[in-house]
Amino acid sequence: MENLSVESIGMALRAALLKGLIREEDTSVIFFDLVYLESRIRRLSSAYPKNTLHGLALKANPLTRILEFLRRIAPRFGVEAASIGEVFMALKAGFHPNQVVFDSPVKTMADLEFALKEGVHVNVDNLAELERVSRLMASFSESMPGTIGLRINPQIGLGTILGSSVAGEYSKFGVPMKFFRAELEEAFHTHRWLTGVHLHIGSQGCAMQMLIDGIGILYDFALEMNEKRAKTGLPPISVFDIGGGLPISYQSGTTAPSMEEYVMKIAERAPQLFDVNSFKLITEFGRWTYTNSGWTVSRVEYVKRDPAINTAMIHVGADLFVRECLNPLDWQHEYTVFDRDGNLKGGCDSKPYNLAGPLCFAGDILARNVPLPKVEEGDYIVIHDTGGYTFSMWSRYNSRQTPRIIGYNNDRFDILKERETHEELRGFWE
Ligand SMILES: Cc1ncc(COP(=O)(O)O)c(C=O)c1O
Repeated sequence: MENLSVESIGMALRAALLKGLIREEDTSVIFFDLVYLESRIRRLSSAYPKNTLHGLALKANPLTRILEFLRRIAPRFGVEAASIGEVFMALKAGFHPNQVVFDSPVKTMADLEFALKEGVHVNVDNLAELERVSRLMASFSESMPGTIGLRINPQIGLGTILGSSVAGEYSKFGVPMKFFRAELEEAFHTHRWLTGVHLHIGSQGCAMQMLIDGIGILYDFALEMNEKRAKTGLPPISVFDIGGGLPISYQSGTTAPSMEEYVMKIAERAPQLFDVNSFKLITEFGRWTYTNSGWTVSRVEYVKRDPAINTAMIHVGADLFVRECLNPLDWQHEYTVFDRDGNLKGGCDSKPYNLAGPLCFAGDILARNVPLPKVEEGDYIVIHDTGGYTFSMWSRYNSRQTPRIIGYNNDRFDILKERETHEELRGFWE
């Protein structure tokens, strides 16, 4: 089962209400099922070979308490950092620099120097950045502790979600392989320290075969470069970063590609990646790891009943669900209605519902035309599968307070982050 069941969510919701964890001011709360999250992490560990560093994409879920949880249950896991700020957060959370992968496409000279000196794995994004790294490496008097890879766009095509597809003919990320093959070869013939390759095809919306094809192209390239590097006495490319991107299911009843099958297919297409003496494998899964483990509940403040449509006015909109509100066709969740005591509501109202957020623009509508049971003031709407790319994309527009975030392990509940106070909120703007 990929998605948490309505029954298990209902049980947790009722228990949280009974324990008083959803207070009057908690107009919305984000929950994480930590047992489920742990099962995802364990699946990653057992699916991949021992030479793998799982650098979970921090941008999907940067909560400190979740990072602590990860450190506790999977101390060999690392993180992928999309900014120097995320590198800093990772180091502060106790990750060893060699468990941190730094991937930003706009690193400054200071970012690069800091990361290289700390010893994190740096994926260079483009040829101009490579030039900068080359100058930096020449300026260091001692050898640097970290490793360096280059992001290559295999130009394999676009997935179904344009906004998160990054391996088309054009992409703002990486060095496009077809256009700059000669420059890429030159780079790998020249730089002794350039011992890694990196690709990331897209996030959600990319078929498994597309990810495999991208990996295949880069694998062939790496093997070819290694033959040439061997002839000139350069160390081989030994770090192969496959990025993230395995899609998940947002709709119960639909099946997403399995991680285990993905690993089997990678092994068929690129067998040497599984040879611990040849390569260290890096993965960067964010959505697959986190999203299905989380859900969000909002109290219904009002219901507007127009002739053709009802509108449930709730306490989260484009602040928590920026992608869903701006690109509703690409990002769709499931929704369940519970009454004020947490009992599941049944049936289907005669008119469908729009779920409208609290923000001051017309597009702040999380979902349109959803068939739901009759929704009333004080009910709770659960938005499923919100554990990744939701709170991490929080928007400050309209200055709403960030919600309480609660983790649970069966019937044990733990507040992972407190609801923001008015003073903390004001502090953001100071
Ligand atoms: C470079 C890179 N790595 C990893 C990821 C994580 O992707 P996902 O969460 O789909 O696994 C992203 C997300 O966009 C990314 O840009």
